[in-house]
Formats: sequence, C-alpha cells, structure tokens
Amino acid sequence: MTPSAEDTPLAPDTLVVAAGRPPREHDAPVNTPIVLSSTFFGTRAPEPGDRVYGRMSNPAWDPFEEALGRLEGADHPALVFSSGLGAAAAALSLVPTGGVVIMPKHAYAGSLSLAAAEAHLGRFTLRTVNVADTEAVLAEIEEQREKKLMLWLESPTNPMLEVAETAVLTEAAHAAGGLVVADNTFNTPILSRPLEDGVDVVLHSVTKWLAGHSDVVLGALATSDSELRERLQAHRTLHGAIAGPFEVWLALRGLRTLALRMERSQANAAVLAER
Ligand SMILES: Cc1ncc(COP(=O)(O)O)c(C=O)c1O
Repeated sequence: MTPSAEDTPLAPDTLVVAAGRPPREHDAPVNTPIVLSSTFFGTRAPEPGDRVYGRMSNPAWDPFEEALGRLEGADHPALVFSSGLGAAAAALSLVPTGGVVIMPKHAYAGSLSLAAAEAHLGRFTLRTVNVADTEAVLAEIEEQREKKLMLWLESPTNPMLEVAETAVLTEAAHAAGGLVVADNTFNTPILSRPLEDGVDVVLHSVTKWLAGHSDVVLGALATSDSELRERLQAHRTLHGAIAGPFEVWLALRGLRTLALRMERSQANAAVLAER
C-alpha cells in the first residue's frame, strides 16, 4: 500500500504546505472549504466526539488544528482559540487553586497581566524570573517544589528576546511535580518544538508568525497529553473563546508560507546583524 501524506513523516517545511488538506480523492477540493454553521444535525442522542454545536467543535477548525498539531510533533490535533490570550487563559486554568506559577519577568506583557490578575484574585501565587538565568530559575523551581507548580516558558521572550534552556528547566519542573507551558510564538515549530523537550503544553499567538499577514487575531495550544487536552478543550467550550471559521481559514492559508517567511526574515536579520 502506498503511504498517504498522513502517515509519512514530513519535514516541517513540507508539513506547512501538505498538512490539513482534504483527502486526495477524485474531484475533492485541494483546499479546505469554509464551513459556516452554528449547529450540526444529529440522528441520535449526542455522543462524545459529535459536533452538535459550533462552540464545542467545528469542521472549520479541524484542518488548522491537524496541521499545527503535526508541526509541533503533538500526538493530537492542536486546539485553536479566539486569541493567544484566550489560549493562555485556558493554559493557566490547569494550575490548581493555591498553586504557583513561575513566569519570565519579560514574558509577553498580556500573559503577565493575565497571570497577575488571577494571582490578585487569590487563584495562585505568581513568581517571576530571569528566564535566561538557568541557575536562578532552577533555584526558584526548587523553592516551589511540590507546590502545584506551573513553569511558564517563553523563548525567546517578547520583547527582550531572552532564550531559556527549555529541556533543562522542563526536567527540573517535572521533577518538582510541576507542569510546563511554553509560548512558542516567536520561534514557531520551524525553529523549535518544545514538546520534544518534554514541555506539556505549547502555546501560540497565531496572530503573529503562524497566520503571518496581520489580518487575524487567534491563539492555539498543542499537547500530547490526552487528559490535559480534554481539560483545555472543556475550558474553551465553557468559556467560549472560540475562533471564527473565516479567521481559521485565513490562518491556515498564512501557515502555508510559514517556512518561506521564516527563511527570508532570518536572512534579513542576518544582514542587519552584520551591518
Ligand atoms: C509571545 C506572545 N504570546 C502571546 C500573545 C497574546 O496573543 P494575542 O494577541 O493573539 O492574544 C502575544 C501577543 O503579542 C505574544 O507576543
């Protein structure tokens, strides 16, 4: 049997073009159609996995979620959200009440403000670190051992571009009983795949590199952990931070050129650095 595009391991540069396409059948569209429907027919009582209603699931999300999940090397499709911060809120919901969140002090200001607002309400304690100082972060993780810890990484940070030692910090956070979320917005899966470094959940502001044309605001999460994915999906369904079909279609269209855009901007950056 000839392997299909779905089961052949593809390089990220190929995946951005090939993943999330409709099945290669005669007369099938090559590109994904936009599905505009709030509600889906049922011929029996709803069962888990049924579409039912557009806040729970939407065929318009599937191709993008499949493509991003495969790009990040996740065992499951990603989850698309109405914004990066909508995705961040879902990720922070994984912290048990009374827990601790360790964040880079120069993480994206919106993520820091969101975590600070939740900390202010007493949901958890927020600790900030210089994420490029591995020894300092390791010391903070040790200090928070077994305190229902979430280590939040962003590498490079926006806007200070500090780089974290993701694998080392993730291993330490896991050893301390914690979960690790990595905001991969700036690197994109073309340059780094934090799940391969052991991170539990990867976050994107799809608004930036992935969509790439400054015409949508969207977010996404990817994980290989089925239980975490179920909780994140339930958060999205209940809090309603869902993406519009057209925005997701645009994001997938933007994703098709991600590898080329990354290549060109790195070449441009190299010229600027030299000058
Ligand atoms: C690194 C990073 N993470 C998260 C966000 C939040 O994403 P959004 O603006 O899509 O809500 C941003 C936005 O600038 C960002 O730069």
